[in-house]
Amino acid sequence: MIDHATIERVIDTADIVEVVQDFVPLKRRGVNYLGLCPFHNEKTPSFTVSPSKGIFKCFGCGKAGNSVNFIMEHEKLSYPEAIKYLASKYHIEIEEKELSVEETAKQNERESMLVLSAYASRQFMENLFQSNEGISIGLPYFKERGFRQETLKKFEIGYCIDKRDAFTQKAIEAGYSKEFLAKTGLSVDNENGLFDRFRGRVMFPIHSLSGQVLGFGGRVLKTDAKTAKYLNSPESEIYHKSRILYGIYQARKAIGQTEKCYLVEGYTDVMSLHEAGVENVVASSGTSLTQEQVRLIKRFTHNVTILYDGDAAGIKASLRGIDIVLEEGLNVKIVLLPDGEDPDSYSKKVSNEEFHKYLSDNEVDFIIFKTNLLLKDTVNDPVGKANVIREIVKSIAVIPDPIPRTIYIKECGLKMEIPEEVLYNEVAKLRQQKVSQERGIYTDHRAIIPAKTPIQPPTKLTPPGSWTERELIRLLLKYGGREYRKVVNKESGNEEVITVADYIVDEIVSDDLNFEDSTLTKIFEEFKFTSTQGGTIEEQFFIRHSDPSISSITADLLSDPTPLSRIWLVKQTFVEDEEMKIPHIVDDTVLKFKSDKIKEKIRELLVELKAAVEEGDEAKILALQKRDLELKKILRIISKNLGDRIVL
Ligand code: CTP
Ligand code: MN
Repeated sequence: MIDHATIERVIDTADIVEVVQDFVPLKRRGVNYLGLCPFHNEKTPSFTVSPSKGIFKCFGCGKAGNSVNFIMEHEKLSYPEAIKYLASKYHIEIEEKELSVEETAKQNERESMLVLSAYASRQFMENLFQSNEGISIGLPYFKERGFRQETLKKFEIGYCIDKRDAFTQKAIEAGYSKEFLAKTGLSVDNENGLFDRFRGRVMFPIHSLSGQVLGFGGRVLKTDAKTAKYLNSPESEIYHKSRILYGIYQARKAIGQTEKCYLVEGYTDVMSLHEAGVENVVASSGTSLTQEQVRLIKRFTHNVTILYDGDAAGIKASLRGIDIVLEEGLNVKIVLLPDGEDPDSYSKKVSNEEFHKYLSDNEVDFIIFKTNLLLKDTVNDPVGKANVIREIVKSIAVIPDPIPRTIYIKECGLKMEIPEEVLYNEVAKLRQQKVSQERGIYTDHRAIIPAKTPIQPPTKLTPPGSWTERELIRLLLKYGGREYRKVVNKESGNEEVITVADYIVDEIVSDDLNFEDSTLTKIFEEFKFTSTQGGTIEEQFFIRHSDPSISSITADLLSDPTPLSRIWLVKQTFVEDEEMKIPHIVDDTVLKFKSDKIKEKIRELLVELKAAVEEGDEAKILALQKRDLELKKILRIISKNLGDRIVL
């Protein structure tokens, strides 16, 4: 458990712009900041950050909140995890007690697995740098391969002792449960009990964007054919291979600064490039890229350069996989390394200067590279050439932006010596098929482009509660402390000066009305409490509230883009600024809220009435009818009070 004072300190210290900018590039727009929403796929930015209020809000998908909400949502963390993340970002110390077995069990699964993975990573590092085995076997392995110790530390490289269950036993003694040892895949179960998955391997922790250890790759030291060179953590609640890129945590700053991301295959390629001074690099870990991984890169840059080992067969096999990068609208370039070299070996072979020069001198556009490569083998082979044309057309057709598409058509047409129009037509055909497929229209059973998930329009979050009750809370949050002149005597026109919050609270409480949504209820209760104490609450109280559902709704309500109360929009009255009309808007909203409640009551009565009629309960029917009339009368009075101001 984290104590309350620490939570408050973390929330007070966390700067929303800084927190968001670690993940989303932001541009200044007046007093706010604007960027591409990380929570849904969009092309034009609708994600805004208000540094003065300390909140973010996406007008595309509707997500909103303070910095804690952002981290929870973005990193899929629980509340305490998000607080811990921010605490470590701002170097705020959190006192954590050693966990007892029961406490560990109580924590939710994900958090337990993350805690265990972090522990494992620390243990493996300790093994590598401090144990006899690490010092005599692990460190020399890296030394022979030419890696510096500082690089090992940067990537938190470790070593797993070569005994059946040395790590498993240690973890159990430290209070970690067998359940999570198995679930993270750090231990494997057989009939003789749990044993270590990664025995005798050097360990590469795989980090999330924010630096949490999600899983591991473990490499054998001797390359013999008996065991796989790398063992990886199995898919789990915390580790999804297809969603993460190795090295993204260590690379993300450099990617943003250089506006470019190098893509390599392996763990050691990433480390070697860092040693060569190229820090904007991530690895796909030997498999072809997924859409999620491409989108991860896309958040930081639109420029990807793939480093290929100089082996033609391997390249040809992987060409197709690159289309997914083009499809996301990224600019893809290729650097082909000299024959027989991979990024790791080549960067070690030449000086850093030569390596950098090689990268910039040999970078070519992917589609041009692909065209050249495929055309090479088709001299005097018309069938082969036709296949090449089809291949290239497929890649060009997935590019979303028409401008680069047109340029490629021209350029590739020249290279392949075929008229531009032919290419245009082929590309157009494929795009048409793709569109039809995405709409689910059946066109061609030999469909060339496999169905991919189309870009989805953002699914708007359904806001909680009715709009009237949200509006009431919005008015409380925004204008609660303002003056409200309440007429206490109609004849004399005597007024009492109270606050907007006091007025609203009084109206709701004296009629014993309730909110539907539980979070809105909590916010109202805070106002009610303060109102009875004779105080006021600032909106920041709710923005920084330690209940994440409260801060999130508050951010949402305070970011409402319409400068006017909806009640007045319905009325279509021209009012420049709702601030000028606060008392009126408050009155109308309270009345609207009441009339909503009465209508709800009338609907309930009707149901009861039907039941009473079926039962033939005369007395009950009469009573209900009487109540119905009463309610309708009140409703009429309210409607009259609202006058023609609102269509009820
Ligand atoms: N890989 C894997 N399992 C294997 C082999 C490879 O998961 N059995 C993944 C690893 O992420 C590895 C990447 O594919 O980093 C590339 O494989 P490879 O080029 O064979 O390994 P290197 O990274 O070059 O490793 P090393 O230099 O240590 O041989
Ligand atoms: Mn290698």
